[in-house]
Formats: sequence, C-alpha cells, structure tokens
Amino acid sequence: MSRDSFGSRMGALLAMAGSAVGLGNLWRFPYLVGENGGAAFIIIYIILSFMICLPIFISEFVIGRRSQKNAYAAFRDLSGGSAWRWIGLFTIIVPLIVLSYYSVIGGWSIEYLLKSFTFSFSGEESQSVMNTMFTSFVSSTWAPLLAHTGFLLVTTLIVMIGIKDGIEKFSKVMMPLLFFIVIAIAVYSVTLPGAKAGLDYLFTPDFSKIDAKACAAALGQAFFSLSLGFGTIMTYASYVDKKENIMTQSTATAASDLMFALIAGVAIMPAVFAFGINPQAGPGLVFETLPYVFGQMPAGGVVAILFFIALLVAALTSSISMLEVAVAYLVEEKNFSRTMACIVLFIFCWVVGAVCSLSFGPLSDVRISGGNLFDFFDNLSSNILMTLGSLFTVLFVGWRLKKTDVYDEFTNGGDISRNAKLFGVLWFLIRYICPVAIIVIFVTGLI
Ligand code: PHE
Repeated sequence: MSRDSFGSRMGALLAMAGSAVGLGNLWRFPYLVGENGGAAFIIIYIILSFMICLPIFISEFVIGRRSQKNAYAAFRDLSGGSAWRWIGLFTIIVPLIVLSYYSVIGGWSIEYLLKSFTFSFSGEESQSVMNTMFTSFVSSTWAPLLAHTGFLLVTTLIVMIGIKDGIEKFSKVMMPLLFFIVIAIAVYSVTLPGAKAGLDYLFTPDFSKIDAKACAAALGQAFFSLSLGFGTIMTYASYVDKKENIMTQSTATAASDLMFALIAGVAIMPAVFAFGINPQAGPGLVFETLPYVFGQMPAGGVVAILFFIALLVAALTSSISMLEVAVAYLVEEKNFSRTMACIVLFIFCWVVGAVCSLSFGPLSDVRISGGNLFDFFDNLSSNILMTLGSLFTVLFVGWRLKKTDVYDEFTNGGDISRNAKLFGVLWFLIRYICPVAIIVIFVTGLI
C-alpha cells in the first residue's frame, strides 16, 4: 500500500504551522509576555526558540522524513531495532493524552462560538456575570460533554479523510483564514481608545524581570507552542517530500508560530486594557475576560464571532496533528484501516476527555496533588512528558544516529549547500546545548 503524503510544499508548511499555532499562542503567550518583562521576554523567547527549539524541531523533522514511518517505527528502524522504539511509543501516547483534554477546551470554544452568535455577552453586564456564565457551563455535566464530543468528532473526521485530502486541505483553507481574522482583530483592537496601555504591557522592556524562572517559562512555552516532544512534527515530516528543504520548512514554521503569537497579543491585550481590566492567562482570559470585553466594545458581537472562530480553528489544526500520530502507528504497525484506527482512538480520547471534562463538575472532588484531573493531565503532559519527549529526541539524533545520516537528511544528500554550511553549528546545538538546556529547564521547572 502506498503511503499518503502532503501534496504540496505550501500544504505541508501550513499543516505544520497549523499544528504549532494553537491555544498556546492565543491564551498563554500574550500573558506570559506581559508578566515577564514585555519586550525583554520576547527577546529571550526568540533567542531560545531559534537556538534550542529550532534544532529540536529539525531533529524531529530528520527522524520523520528519513524514516518515512510513524513515530514508533521511525525510532525502531533508525536505531536498528533497539529499545529506542519504546521512546517512539512514548511519543505516540503523549499526544493522545493531550488531545483528550485539548478537545475539552475545543468544545468550550464551540460553545462560546454558539453563544457569540446569539450575542450572550452583550451590554452592561458586570464581569462577574461572565465568570458565573463560564463556571456554571464548565461545571455542568452534559453541555461540555456534548461540546467535547463535537470537537473530537470533527477532529476525527478530518484525520479519517487522510493526509492530502483531509489534514492538508483543511489547513490550507483554515490557516490563512485564521491569520486574516487575528490580524483584523489586532487592527481593530489597537484603534480602541486606551489601547496604548495594552501595548505598553506587552512591549515595554523590563530586563529586571528576566531570571531563571522567566527563561524556564519562555522555553516551556516555546516547546508547547512548536508542538515539540509529541511525535507530531515527526509524523507530519514523514509525509514531506524528500526534495524539500528541512531548514527552510522548519524556520518558516517557527517564524509563523512566533508571528502569530505576537499578533494574538496585539489582538487581545490592547482590548483588555482599553476596558481597564487586568489580564489573566488560560481559560480565564478567553472565556471570562474577553467575553466581557466583547460585550463592552463597539461591534463587539462581530468581534466575538470572529475571535471564537479563530480559537476553534487554531485548536482544530492542532488537534488533528495530535491524532495523526497514533493513527499512523495503528495503520502501519497494527494493520488497522484508517477508519478503524480513527474510531478506536476517538473512543479512547473521548473517555479520557470526558473524565477531564467532568473534573470541573461532578468529579471535582477527585484531586491529585492539589489540582483536579484536568490540571493533572495538563501538568503531567506539558511540563513533564513533553520535555522528556524532546530530550529523548535530541539525544537520539545527536548520539544514536550516525552523523553522516543526519547530514545527508539535512542537506538532501549534500545538495543544499547553505544547509551544509550550517550543519556544524546545528550538530553542536543538538548534541550538547539542547540536552543541557532541556535538563536545566526541567529541573528549574520542578523546584
Ligand atoms: N502547539 C499547540 C498550541 O500551541 C499545541 C500542540 C501541542 C499541538 C502538541 C500539537 C502537539 O496550542
């Protein structure tokens, strides 16, 4: 059976950018920037993204494209059948866990999109009304479960169609739309009276805030935002044509992810400050603060619809990349049909996601180390499992693969002379700098 693949360079790029651009860009980045020293944090973020994360991204790209296999088989075959394949399996299971709770949040965006069509945020209502609206929604049993089901179903259907006709087509239409919407909101947002305070919050550099914790936060965010350590980039890369330039594709993805995060910041923060509110991160920002802001601003109804469409699309282009990792594995290693693989994984993620969803309501008494089950899964996967996945990936490429093979893949058999010149630096970063940086960040994050 011939393997599906991306049909065009642009398609592959947009799918990868789609995986990278997600909730992380919309609800965490702007807040982290504001809290950690504005432009100073952005500078650190850019340096770390390109010095540490880009080499990891390239490592995943090399593994995926060299093997042209799912993550498990990629580790197995490239290491000559050794125990490394269990790392492959690890990078398949982690995105499934993330997908399960990501889908719960995806469901919330569906609900809020529907709410914005009926413009439930309008008028003079106080901020606490929005808080209550959100809390009573997430703590109920059925509505969030239904929304989670809807989100996961759409994700599964897109993946079921395949790489070229499903994932690629969806990303090709949705990513430009996403950029367009966020830019439009950003332009509107900066023209609101009082917007300047938001821009100051984002961009006034304060180097005194840059300490080890801020660097750890920047690197953690960059990991999550670039979908590293999850097997996703590896899997997408396995569908990329051998003629493509790994360096160009990786840099373009990282750059568009960064650009999107910055534009998202400019779309959100000036509006929040224009209405005199203190920003927060995470669900509180997009499901409590922003609906209130939309209710206050002129033409807020339209902006709300556009924003929640953007949120939903950003979440979907990421969630499909998480699901594809395990689908590729079941199809290629366990002889599942694509449809069957999708159904089985749908059921798995639905159950785990349902538990997460209920952890805001009926199951809220179940606590693990102080948080509910949702927090537990989120912390475990984005702080621990993801970091381990990235560490194993760079160790595998830097210390297990043959240098000549990595060189060959990175330069397309020596054809791309610019990559050949960069290889020495890249190799050094992958072998020494990245593993050390990951371990340092990991430890700093734990204490
Ligand atoms: N990068 C996505 C975001 O910023 C999240 C993601 C993580 C997607 C892992 C795929 C794999 O929201």
